[in-house]
Amino acid sequence: MDRILEPEIMDGAAEAAAYAKADFSDSNKAFVDDVIARFGAQLAQAVDFGCGPGDIAVRLVQAHPGVHVTAVDGSHSMLALAGRAVQGAHLGGRIALVHGRLPGLDLPQRHFDLVLCKDMMHHLPDPQVLWSEVKRLGKPGAAVYVMDLARPDSRDEARAIVERVSGGEDPILKEDFLNSLCAAFTADEVRAELAIAGLALPVSQLTERHLCIRGRLPG
Ligand SMILES: C[S@@+](CC[C@H](N)C(=O)[O-])C[C@H]1O[C@@H](n2cnc3c(N)ncnc32)[C@H](O)[C@@H]1O
Repeated sequence: MDRILEPEIMDGAAEAAAYAKADFSDSNKAFVDDVIARFGAQLAQAVDFGCGPGDIAVRLVQAHPGVHVTAVDGSHSMLALAGRAVQGAHLGGRIALVHGRLPGLDLPQRHFDLVLCKDMMHHLPDPQVLWSEVKRLGKPGAAVYVMDLARPDSRDEARAIVERVSGGEDPILKEDFLNSLCAAFTADEVRAELAIAGLALPVSQLTERHLCIRGRLPG
């Protein structure tokens, strides 16, 4: 199956609220734990592309006392939800929420020790948008941690995954998940895009539906 693109920015209030209401706590905790285990040393400035409702940023600063996160999203609805999460956790001094759409974010170049991006890449019609921002905003030697969905071979297979993983969830969320699986990249496609970008970052297929790109920019 070829990619079936979905809307890039999740600006619908109902869609953003359904996403924020879903319980991603286990996977988000596992994500943040692994980020810190691999890249926690000498970590001060992180940027989170496509931060959505802000759970990753909140968890990261709660788990790592030295880090500040710049959390970016192109969706006002998502950023409003992220604002509530940040205020509720009293972390406004360590998390900056920025409305912006990749590429061309108005952020300092070669500034960040860690570039995070979870479940945003599949929204991009052109994934080079992500890799160009990784290269432009990451410091030399910066850690890069991108996690995303992997596209199954067919829409039927994608639907079977949705039913298996989130059969009892909100129908809006299930539809969103199905569309996201169909919009996602395969591991080989990501490897080809990284080669075009000139980035030597390893791509791992962690499960039938998860891809991970983690490594460091050249020093
Ligand atoms: C599926 S959500 C993931 C949210 C969060 N990273 C998480 O894992 O919970 C994807 C987010 O990326 C945002 N997004 C998509 N394309 C973007 C772009 N080009 N620039 C900024 N944000 C973008 C969407 O608005 C949405 O909030």
